[in-house]
Amino acid sequence: MSANQPNARDFNPNALDLCQVATYDRVIRAPLVRVWENVLDWEHLPYLHETSFDYIELDERGEWGWRTWSNAEHTGHVELTVASKDSYVARSYHDRKQVSEIWSTLTAEEDNTRIHVAFHLPGIADADREQVGDLMLGLYTTLWDEDEAMMRERHERLNESRDAQSNCDLGPAVDIRARLANNEEIRFQLKRREFQLRLDGENLIAHATICPHLLGPLDQSTLNQGRLRCPWHGYEFDVRSGECVFPEHATCKLPASPELELSNGNLIATSR
Ligand code: FES
Ligand SMILES: [Fe+2]
Repeated sequence: MSANQPNARDFNPNALDLCQVATYDRVIRAPLVRVWENVLDWEHLPYLHETSFDYIELDERGEWGWRTWSNAEHTGHVELTVASKDSYVARSYHDRKQVSEIWSTLTAEEDNTRIHVAFHLPGIADADREQVGDLMLGLYTTLWDEDEAMMRERHERLNESRDAQSNCDLGPAVDIRARLANNEEIRFQLKRREFQLRLDGENLIAHATICPHLLGPLDQSTLNQGRLRCPWHGYEFDVRSGECVFPEHATCKLPASPELELSNGNLIATSR
């Protein structure tokens, strides 16, 4: 598998009349390894960036990069190609015609990553260049803001230490129900996993707060008909069985929920 675009690692392989409408420079507060993960992760686009993408469907992916359809009719697509160890190019196509070519360069700066992006578009009149450039800069600022927040949270989760205890006393059950009814978040840690208490109707339940896919924040998902949907890639989990019920290809599963018992009116959580 490789890019469909011939000579995809070259600049302007279709010999278009490209105009550089803008450049974007920024230091991302996440290490280079997180940024490359993010670049190759096509699956977050319609979920993390839900305000910027309304349709994404995978065509192919590999170490070379990825290609996604941008509409259900398959008349448009985006192809991202790794061009070198520190650069990649994203090209969009409509009806087989290339409509953009965006080059990004990544440079490690201690625990951060400097990015430089150059936006090249075909057929842009001089008079429109600034306006089109501003649109691209607005879009990329939003995308990188969202990406940076995800990368930083994932990096923190990868490096944090959590309690190894196998049970804990969460306090009076009456108080816990009142706090949850008041939309207060109640979390606790067992065996180096983090859990959150919720009210599912009248029932008290506990579920993992860290998504087993890539450590996304399940505490930010709403519990809907017994399902949790992770905001990063849209994976959905049955909160009782822990099974991932969407997408079909997912193989991850939530860690077993702890047992919740009452002891002298207090709620005790015990790892299973
Ligand atoms: S981290 Fe990917 S779906 Fe949760
Ligand atoms: Fe992204």
